[in-house]
Amino acid sequence: MDDRLLNENINGDEFTDELSLRPERLNQYIGQDKIKHNLDVFIQAAKLREESLDHVLLYGPPGLGKTTLANIIANELEVNIKTTSGPTIERPGDLAAILSSLSPGDVLFIDEIHRLSRVVEEVLYPAMEDFVLDIVVGKGEEARSIRIDLPPFTLVGATTRAGSLSAPLRDRFGVHLRLDYYNQKELQEVIKRTADVFEVQIDQNSINELAMRSRGTPRIANRLLRRVRDFAQVKNNGIIDYETSKSSLDLLQVDQYGLDHIDHKILRAIVERYNGGPVGLDTIAVSIGEERVTLEDVYEPYLIQKGFLERTTRGRKATALVYDHFNLPYPNEKRQ
Ligand SMILES: Nc1ncnc2c1ncn2[C@@H]1O[C@H](COP(=O)(O)OP(=O)(O)OP(=O)(O)O)[C@@H](O)[C@H]1O
Ligand SMILES: [Mg+2]
Repeated sequence: MDDRLLNENINGDEFTDELSLRPERLNQYIGQDKIKHNLDVFIQAAKLREESLDHVLLYGPPGLGKTTLANIIANELEVNIKTTSGPTIERPGDLAAILSSLSPGDVLFIDEIHRLSRVVEEVLYPAMEDFVLDIVVGKGEEARSIRIDLPPFTLVGATTRAGSLSAPLRDRFGVHLRLDYYNQKELQEVIKRTADVFEVQIDQNSINELAMRSRGTPRIANRLLRRVRDFAQVKNNGIIDYETSKSSLDLLQVDQYGLDHIDHKILRAIVERYNGGPVGLDTIAVSIGEERVTLEDVYEPYLIQKGFLERTTRGRKATALVYDHFNLPYPNEKRQ
């Protein structure tokens, strides 16, 4: 099989870092309590019955721990995991090769599963449902379909956009898990854990400050901690105190709601150029020079969750909170 189909060789410092930061067992995974509880039950049940775990779909905004969870599922099941992604699997044959390389009970993790092409998806349907591969051999009049048995396996699919998944694919997952943004307490735990891994000294106030600015997202919490650690290393003998963290976070342009300069660009564009909206997402995207999908997947969910943005049938609207945030007067005609 073509090695490029599986992502087994990950190199580079931030990646190695990322790997060592990943919790390996369910009880080390912070937050997402309902998901953890359910998964724990499903995994135990599958093990008791000596069956493969039903296919699992993980969805939610980037950086909330989908890839981490996929690996934990394999660890808890005590099976191997093979990792690939939607865009990597170009042809049906690519997927067939991956599927036939699996051992009984293995986890196949397909990241960005919404990006599988339709023809590839069709190979997946019988594989998920009946653990078989239908392969067409020969051409034209000679063409016939042969069926190959696969070992039972667990497909774990991850996506930032469950809405883009085709209905037949979505329906073949027995377990659907939606990851939510983390609360302050959980983010503080993530930061503490990462600081321990880095063996860096950090005080509680700095932990709180970092948690507040992490956009509810463990990946951002870890990234901010890395950058603050750099500042501390150069300017404060490696010790992260409140002064150091606050001043470095200001330099990194994340505000106390965790909004970064792109969030600011989005909100300011809506308020200043479109009178607070409603305005279409495409218009916003063009006006600030970002991709629509980035706004939709990465920025908008958090802004909506925090009450800065509202989604209406006529487009996106900035709420009174945005005017407050930028110290702008809320237009009278918008009051209800
Ligand atoms: N529950 C958690 N507890 C501790 N650390 C976590 C948790 N969730 C995520 N992390 C950390 O956050 C980082 C990002 O997680 P991960 O790569 O799993 O996110 P993701 O949802 O797969 O993101 P993407 O959609 O971009 O692929 C990892 O380094 C991981 O260590
Ligand atoms: Mg991931």
